[in-house]
Amino acid sequence: MTGPVDLNDLDLWARAVPYAEFARLRREEPVSWHDEPAPNSGFWSVTRYADIVAASRDTATYSSGRGVSFEEPTDEDMAARRTIIDTDPPDHTKLRKILSGSFSQRAVAVYQHFVEGLTEDVLDRALQHDEFDFVDAIAKEVPIRVLARIMGLPGSELDRFIDLGDRLIANTDPAVTDVVWGRDDTDAYRLYPFRSPYGKQLWDLGREVVKDKLREPGDDLLSTLLAAEVDGDRLTETDLDNFFSIMVIAGNETTRIAIAQGVLAFIEHQDQWTRLAEDPDGRAGTAADEVVRWTCPTHFMRRTATRDAELGGAHIKEGDKVILWYVSGNRDETEFAEPDTFDVGRAPNRHLSFGRGGPHLCLGVHLAKLEVSIVLAALARRVARFSLAGPPQRIRSNFTNGLRELPVRITRTA
Ligand code: HEM
Repeated sequence: MTGPVDLNDLDLWARAVPYAEFARLRREEPVSWHDEPAPNSGFWSVTRYADIVAASRDTATYSSGRGVSFEEPTDEDMAARRTIIDTDPPDHTKLRKILSGSFSQRAVAVYQHFVEGLTEDVLDRALQHDEFDFVDAIAKEVPIRVLARIMGLPGSELDRFIDLGDRLIANTDPAVTDVVWGRDDTDAYRLYPFRSPYGKQLWDLGREVVKDKLREPGDDLLSTLLAAEVDGDRLTETDLDNFFSIMVIAGNETTRIAIAQGVLAFIEHQDQWTRLAEDPDGRAGTAADEVVRWTCPTHFMRRTATRDAELGGAHIKEGDKVILWYVSGNRDETEFAEPDTFDVGRAPNRHLSFGRGGPHLCLGVHLAKLEVSIVLAALARRVARFSLAGPPQRIRSNFTNGLRELPVRITRTA
């Protein structure tokens, strides 16, 4: 049956996240079939918290191997651009092992002072003005610089990384990229990330950085990847290309979205900003979790059924595309008390924004929480009030909850 709401209508998402429609689906048809225009073949929408966690856990039935977006790539496409995120166990386990030590809570805690210092520098510059674009001046600045430090990326290329990452993750928004998936013929780029020529440019940039690292290895993630072995073999050039692109994309845009959409949430809930500002150090941790639940930077992850299965009362067939709508699960009233209330003290907060239950749980979860909580606490110490200085501009996408612009006006603390 086709649901009455077209969750692939990107102009609808450009206006707002369709929360009311998700609430209806959770109530009436929690796992529902949606048709898609050719060449795609339709998808299941999984909207309840418990079903999303169950599917994430069952990687033997719900595979990541056909990619995590709506696109339906061929075997050849996947072979060229498979990253850790579209790999199933046991291969996934081997790839994950290479990097998991670098992203443990303890490993990430080492960056606390660096992130605090960087944040203060960014705020010193941005907060000289009474009005500015929050995305450009603050949200964009922190995550890429943290990522550059951890990965060992050259500072001179950061704007280029940001620009390419934007064009990839927002590959459905003509205001961000001139090669729009779903509108333009992207066949020539099908072997590159996000089926985009900018995916190739990101790989090329990555290869230049790798060349430098081979000459002069350092204490960074790229050097770790270059030295890594899987089953006794070094990573191939294709593996390195894809590790590079997933890290730059996953580690940058998502955190930026959480910070920017988080400030928008506080503009809309001034009482919660006041609560945070009363005790920034004590409340920044739970506030960061709530911001990430509320803003859900990545709306969904896709899986593909490897066999016939039953989920939430629906009969899924082998080969079907299954969309796990984290954005919906995060508002599921069976898991969260008053899910539509933005509450900076919410605990427990077992949201789905980083994935949950399966092996793909966001590798950067501790780093992202560290960054978001540090930025929120620093802002709460220095800004008494944010208000809108113009309409926020949402990215036209059902995958990412990004903002292109967030014009704000600030009142500084006394
Ligand atoms: C608020 C910020 C972030 C959000 C909301 C987020 C969200 C996600 C989600 C939803 C997944 C997929 C989970 C699944 O398949 O169920 C994921 C995976 C991943 N994330 Fe994040 N992420 C964030 C920050 C980061 C950062 C800072 C990094 C690294 C520096 C990172 C690196 C990764 C990687 C490498 C994966 C693939 C993990 C795997 O397949 O095993 N993410 N993230």
